[in-house]
Amino acid sequence: MTRLVRTRDELAAARARLGEQSGTEATVGLVPTMGALHAGHLALIDAARAGCAAVVTSIFVNPMQFHQAGDLQRYPRRLGEDLALCEQHGVDLVWAPEVDEVYPGGPAQVWVTAGALAAQLEGPNRPGHFDGVLTVVTKLFAAVRPARAFFGEKDYQQLMLIRRMVRDLGQGVEVISVPTVREPDGLALSSRNVLLSTSERASARFLSAALMAGRDAAGSAAAVLAAAREVLAGAEGVDVDYLELRDPELGPAPEQGPARLLVAARVGSIRLIDNVAVELRP
Ligand code: PAF
Repeated sequence: MTRLVRTRDELAAARARLGEQSGTEATVGLVPTMGALHAGHLALIDAARAGCAAVVTSIFVNPMQFHQAGDLQRYPRRLGEDLALCEQHGVDLVWAPEVDEVYPGGPAQVWVTAGALAAQLEGPNRPGHFDGVLTVVTKLFAAVRPARAFFGEKDYQQLMLIRRMVRDLGQGVEVISVPTVREPDGLALSSRNVLLSTSERASARFLSAALMAGRDAAGSAAAVLAAAREVLAGAEGVDVDYLELRDPELGPAPEQGPARLLVAARVGSIRLIDNVAVELRP
């Protein structure tokens, strides 16, 4: 049975009980989310359920990672449905705090700074976004004290930054990544997809189509990029922000071997991102 807690005190009491479940300290897995759960989140929860004695999901729309008030306001919120899904997928504890529970006394004055990697790709478009993400993830780690935390590959730059933060700050949490879940036509699942109109939804599939074309080109960096660009060039209603090829840690692309192809585009007023692993050949 899933238990919902709202305050830090309730969380601390429930977390202590999770620790007692197995007599010794239980392996607690955390799935941090902003709610509006979809199959991508459920894949994270299922991975946590399979690998941990107890699963905690946080549901918190973090104001500090939104730099546009409109984006924060229209972010979908559906706690009732989210709880039902958590129940179905065997979550032990849901922490869904109010903003002042996470940021007592107003916005944090001390932040985690994401550093150089945050200045690239998504960074220029979303000033302060990754500082906000890393700050709230640090707070979630401190409150929940998980042994493992689960993040999707869909937000690949976020995943890399969280791994880096855990390493640099010695946070002692094992970060587990889970592959992106896609619609049948390839569109990566995202809570923002529900905001797309019918015609925007039709255009949105070009992002993953471009990535798959690049992946299937299975050639040099130039060949991969050319194949992806060709798809995007014919994509009506898709305003591409970037298409980039990097190494798996988001450094410069290698001449050959594993790499990551990443895309961001605006479809109508909705900004979508996606990425895929590719193998470069000379
Ligand atoms: O990926 C998300 O949903 C958010 O960025 C996260 C990690 C829950 C932090 O608010």
